[in-house]
Amino acid sequence: MYPSIAPSILAADFANLQSEVKMLNNSKADFIHVDIMDGVFVPNISFGIPVTEAIYKHAQKPLDVHLMIVEPDKYLEAFRKAGAEVISVHYEACPHLHRTLQAIHLLGAKAGVAINPHTPIELLSEVIADIDVVCVMSVNPGFGGQKFIENTYSKIDRLKELILSKNSKAQIEIDGGVNAQNAPKLIERGADILVAGSFVFNSDDPIKTIADLKSIRTKD
Ligand code: DX5
Ligand code: ZN
Repeated sequence: MYPSIAPSILAADFANLQSEVKMLNNSKADFIHVDIMDGVFVPNISFGIPVTEAIYKHAQKPLDVHLMIVEPDKYLEAFRKAGAEVISVHYEACPHLHRTLQAIHLLGAKAGVAINPHTPIELLSEVIADIDVVCVMSVNPGFGGQKFIENTYSKIDRLKELILSKNSKAQIEIDGGVNAQNAPKLIERGADILVAGSFVFNSDDPIKTIADLKSIRTKD
């Protein structure tokens, strides 16, 4: 099985977004990962709905929107209208997570739940059957270019077990510090989707970097 690759547009050249999106269209990327930061849930501000719409206008790949914001319920419809195919909310930002997942599904989007590095996988046990994508944060959210947290590997093992035990169809997405060194191990442990920002956009040939990540194969 080959992994899905979701380059994070956060690491792109924002002054040339159209050409960056076109580059991703011409690559083997499976999704465009769109990082939304509000300066409250995370200590950084990225961009919001109008920029997501602008990306969507040129995108030929589905948008995987990662909401690093408080009170995400208020903005689900707006991001869906802006083109989100997958909407991921943070476990830590959702006091009524089950309701939020229902709301995302009602909008016709896939529902993702992102979990911070300190959040135990087990906290998803009662909703795992309702989740399409679990986004395991392998850095503390807020910034691109951070160092991968090694504890992520064992979290993937526990998440895989949970998914199997509850007959869930959830895919495992890894977000933060992904590169050619850790990608094979992540895929081997059970990651389905790899988000990569700086590793892709800071490389000399992003199209090749995406193809190289995509070509990493597991045995089955
Ligand atoms: C971190 C974001 C990530 C980030 C990944 O808060 O959620 O998607 O852009 O960037 P890299 O691959 O540079 O760690
Ligand atoms: Zn992200």
